[in-house]
Amino acid sequence: MTPAVQLTSVGKVYGYGPSAMIALNDVDLTIEPGRFVSLIGPSGCGKSTLLRIVAGLESAGRGEVRVHDVTPSEAGAAKLIGLVPQTPALLPWLSVLKNVTLPQKINPGAARRRQRIGDLAERGGRKPAPDMLELLDRAGLADAAHKLPAQLSGGMQQRAAIVRAFGLQPDVLLMDEPFSALDEFTRESLQDQLLDLWDELKTTVLFVTHSVSEAVRMSDTVVVMAPRPGRIVDVIDIDLPRPRNQRLFEERRFHEYEDLIRDRLHSAWRSTDAA
Ligand SMILES: Nc1ncnc2c1ncn2[C@@H]1O[C@H](COP(=O)(O)OP(=O)(O)O)[C@@H](O)[C@H]1O
Ligand SMILES: [Mg+2]
Repeated sequence: MTPAVQLTSVGKVYGYGPSAMIALNDVDLTIEPGRFVSLIGPSGCGKSTLLRIVAGLESAGRGEVRVHDVTPSEAGAAKLIGLVPQTPALLPWLSVLKNVTLPQKINPGAARRRQRIGDLAERGGRKPAPDMLELLDRAGLADAAHKLPAQLSGGMQQRAAIVRAFGLQPDVLLMDEPFSALDEFTRESLQDQLLDLWDELKTTVLFVTHSVSEAVRMSDTVVVMAPRPGRIVDVIDIDLPRPRNQRLFEERRFHEYEDLIRDRLHSAWRSTDAA
C-alpha cells in the first residue's frame, strides 16, 4: 500500500551561519492511509514546520516528501490535502454555510474529483461527498448555518472550520493545534466530533498537539519530537480500543501511555539541555 505521507531524511534550516536554526533534522516518518497520527513536543521542536512542509506551504531543505506518492504541491493541487489552522479563519462577512462551502466553489477541479469519488462510491469504494448542511447539523451547527461567524462562540467557529476542512474530503487532513485555544469541555466535544468524522470518512489525520492526554486519546500513533535540533525521538503506537469515549480515562493503560510519553518528552528535553 502506498503511504499517505512519507518523509525521508527531511531537514530544514532557517537562517545562515551562526544564527542558523535547525528546525528539522533527519526526519523519517511513514503514515499509512487512514491512520490518526499526532505530533507532540515542546514549542520550537518543528511541529508546525513539519506540517507546513507536508502541506506544500514550505519546501524541505533536504530529503524527500511524498503525499500519496506525489509531491506536496501536486497533492495540494489535486486537493488531497486539507488544513485546519489553530484559529478558525472564517470570513467574517459570509454566513457559516457559505464559509464551509466556499472551498468547494473556488475549486472546480476538486468538485470533479469529488464526482469521481462519488462514482467510486457507487461501486463500493469511497463514500460520496458529504452534504455540508448535514455535516453542520452533525457538528451541532444546524441553527448556526445562516449566522455570521461573529455570532458564534470560539468553539463553534472552530467546529465550522473542521466541517469546512472535511467538506473537500481530503485524503490527508493536517491540523495544527486546532483545539489549543478552547476550554476543556469544548475541547473534549470537538475531539469527539473529529473522531466521528475521521471514523466515517476514513481520512488520514496528522494532528499537532502539546497535550499528552489529547494525543493518547485521539491517536493510533504518537510521534514524540524534541527541539534544538527539531527531530523525532520516538514513535509510539497506541494500542487502545475504539471508540475512545470518556470511559477511556478510567483505563489504566490510557494513563500508562500518558506516563510513557511524558517520560520520553522529559528525557529528550534533558538530552537537549545537556547538548
Ligand atoms: N519562518 C521562520 N523563520 C525563521 N525561523 C523559523 C521560522 N519558522 C520557524 N522557525 C524556527 O524553527 C523552529 C521550529 O519552529 P516551529 O516549527 O514553529 O515549532 P513548533 O511548531 O514545534 O513550536 C523554531 O525555533 C522557530 O523559531
Ligand atoms: Mg507550532
